Amino acid sequence: MPMTSIFRFFTYIDVRENKKVVIQRKIYFIKKNKPEFISKLIKNSIFENILIFVEINQDMGEQIQPYKDSKLGKKQQVEQMFDTISGNYDNLNRMISLGTDQGWRRHVLKLVADTKPESILDIATGTGDLAILLSKSEAKSIVGLDLSAGMLEVGKEKVKVLGLQDRIEMLQGDSENLPFADNSFDAITVAFGVRNFENLEKGLDEILRVLKPNGIFVILETSVPTKFPFKQGYSFYMKTFMPLMGKLFSKDKKAYTYLTESAKNFPFGEEMNNILRKIGFSNVKHLPQTMGVATIYTASKV
Ligand SMILES: C[S@@+](CC[C@H](N)C(=O)[O-])C[C@H]1O[C@@H](n2cnc3c(N)ncnc32)[C@H](O)[C@@H]1O
Repeated sequence: MPMTSIFRFFTYIDVRENKKVVIQRKIYFIKKNKPEFISKLIKNSIFENILIFVEINQDMGEQIQPYKDSKLGKKQQVEQMFDTISGNYDNLNRMISLGTDQGWRRHVLKLVADTKPESILDIATGTGDLAILLSKSEAKSIVGLDLSAGMLEVGKEKVKVLGLQDRIEMLQGDSENLPFADNSFDAITVAFGVRNFENLEKGLDEILRVLKPNGIFVILETSVPTKFPFKQGYSFYMKTFMPLMGKLFSKDKKAYTYLTESAKNFPFGEEMNNILRKIGFSNVKHLPQTMGVATIYTASKV
């Protein structure tokens, strides 16, 4: 059985029981990406006696890195990768998602704008598309924060052309060590960013810290369709179209392998909801988009 399956299973149990577990060999051939099936198995008491609780040292979510041979940590690799692809990121983004990402972002805008926030933090803002769209809300101040200076440069230029400098500030920073006081923002968003965090739990802890009580947190992230025929269609698309895009258009082919791999292996749906609940968010919900190829998560802080 591939190690990835074991790790996904560890992660799932970690979230549900707040304990780390290993399952006996007997059910080692559980298929990858089947958290719902695993959940049913665990709820079913006849399987209780085959769980052995042990301590392991594994982060939430498998650690997929852009450059497998690099000695740098994931964070530095991610920064380097986005610096390299920043110049054609927007075009490639549209192509890869066949333009659907715009609709998903508009959905995020509606969810956020409905809460009438005065201050918004868009983490992993990249070239600023979501931060710019969020300026259609009533918010007086929007901060777009990102690790990559290259992505921010492109974003700053867009903000300038649109004359939004007085409302949108583009800031270099790390989601895992946010340069803001506790309870600073009415709304926080992250679009296609959380799966790039080196330490997901630390990033989410920081977000909870700087979100105001009753504030809204919205994540937009890739997910994997689970139903026929979308699951099969998605798998075909990821195996054929994505590598072709990487070969034809990218300066950095490894970036596209990384984006595909990380999308396939990142927790989604109920598994992600449980991670958010474990961190301390309340009212956690998820809204699958376009047959489940992306998911919007909403949560709040009490
Ligand atoms: C796929 S891009 C998404 C950009 C933008 N939000 C969008 O929707 O197009 C992911 C971004 O996450 C940023 N990122 C990754 N880890 C980060 C971290 N720890 N702190 C801040 N930004 C991070 C990367 O630099 C990159 O710009």
